Amino acid sequence: MLDKKVAQLLNDQVNKELYSAYLYLDFAVYYDEIGLDGFSNWYKIQAQEERDHAMLFLQYLQNNGEKVTLGAIAKPDKDLSDKLQVLKYGLEHEQYVTGLIHAIYDAAYGVKDFRTMQFLDWFVKEQGEEEKNAEDMIKKMELFGDDAKGLYMLNSEMAARTYSAPSLTL
Ligand code: FEO
Repeated sequence: MLDKKVAQLLNDQVNKELYSAYLYLDFAVYYDEIGLDGFSNWYKIQAQEERDHAMLFLQYLQNNGEKVTLGAIAKPDKDLSDKLQVLKYGLEHEQYVTGLIHAIYDAAYGVKDFRTMQFLDWFVKEQGEEEKNAEDMIKKMELFGDDAKGLYMLNSEMAARTYSAPSLTL
């Protein structure tokens, strides 16, 4: 059994990761609507990754004999009307998720739950990568997004992203 607070935070994270998937699916729909199918592809794959994250938290709870309680997933509420601003929302969201992961880590550290800390190590690293990806996309959009050819190239780059399963298995 896990510490009650740690288990609650891990359970909440299942919901947060599913919300992330839902938010990124909303981004993908927006980019499809404005004709940027590469960006849409990128966020559809990101949504898949977020679902994987949710499943990892769920599986970890189950592996530790904890009951999983699924709550309602919130409606994505970002105003999606600017192709650069959407990327900035993405970065803000990842920074928020990093804070959530750190809060779980902090709770686990407080009760010397080394197993959960080890489990979370993967997510700490993953968050670093996700923030960097979001920052890189913003930089590129700022540099090239106002130029039709530049945007076409960026969209092609985003279209090339393919899904791969998470390197963490439980
Ligand atoms: Fe599951 Fe993008 O963090």
